[in-house]
Amino acid sequence: MKGVILAGGMATRLRPLTWVTNKHLLPIYNKPMIFYPLESLVQAGIKEILITTNPEHVGQFITLLKKIDNFGVKISYEVQDNPKGGIAQAIGLSKSFADNEKIVVILGDNIFSYNLSKAVVDFDRQKKGAKVVAKRMPTECKHYGVIELDKKGKVISIEEKPQYPKSDLAQTGIYMYDSQVFDFIEKQNPSARGEMEVTDLNNFYLKQGTLTCEVLKDWWVDAGSSFEELMRANILVAKELMGENEKKDLMNLYRNRE
Ligand code: G1P
Repeated sequence: MKGVILAGGMATRLRPLTWVTNKHLLPIYNKPMIFYPLESLVQAGIKEILITTNPEHVGQFITLLKKIDNFGVKISYEVQDNPKGGIAQAIGLSKSFADNEKIVVILGDNIFSYNLSKAVVDFDRQKKGAKVVAKRMPTECKHYGVIELDKKGKVISIEEKPQYPKSDLAQTGIYMYDSQVFDFIEKQNPSARGEMEVTDLNNFYLKQGTLTCEVLKDWWVDAGSSFEELMRANILVAKELMGENEKKDLMNLYRNRE
């Protein structure tokens, strides 16, 4: 399986931090944001990774990642000329990189304390289809794609940022696809906000009956969605690295956010 990290977009929600740089290069505690999805893929045994980003930022990623020998894996780059194209459009750019292999896609601003290895192995064994990774978000679900499961854990529906969520299960930015993904993207139309939505893409697999879902129990943050979430990702990563006393102080600050 190959890895794809989406690191483009306009990042308007994080301006002025992102006026002159890419949000995936902003710090999360002691490392640039892009290191986290890269480390997750490397930990899961992925050896070939594509980073998709804006033309004006691709040079910065190359310079940065060369400094740490590309984590010992093969990293290639693809340029997304239309930063407003949406997640599915960006995934579509990885067709020749994927070369008919399955891919695991991570939105580059999703920071999580979750080992992808088991899901990657499970998906490797899945004959065909796609897999989404979800997280229970009891209070904020309507800001995300919302996944509804039946009692056996089978996906029944996915809706993008619904006003009235049918469950508390948020679709994270971790997706796995077989090679059908590129045919589905070609059939897709832009949504009302003019973007090729990942939720519409996942619905093709849902209709086909080949979409599986894994619910993660550890913490997960959509760090690029607001200043608060960016701060929360910093704190959670710092907490994992610090001693118990510092941890307690930080817990007090963020105790309502976990
Ligand atoms: C995107 C997806 C959404 C998903 C979220 C996770 O939303 O459209 O389904 O829940 O990523 O990070 P965005 O953050 O682009 O608004």
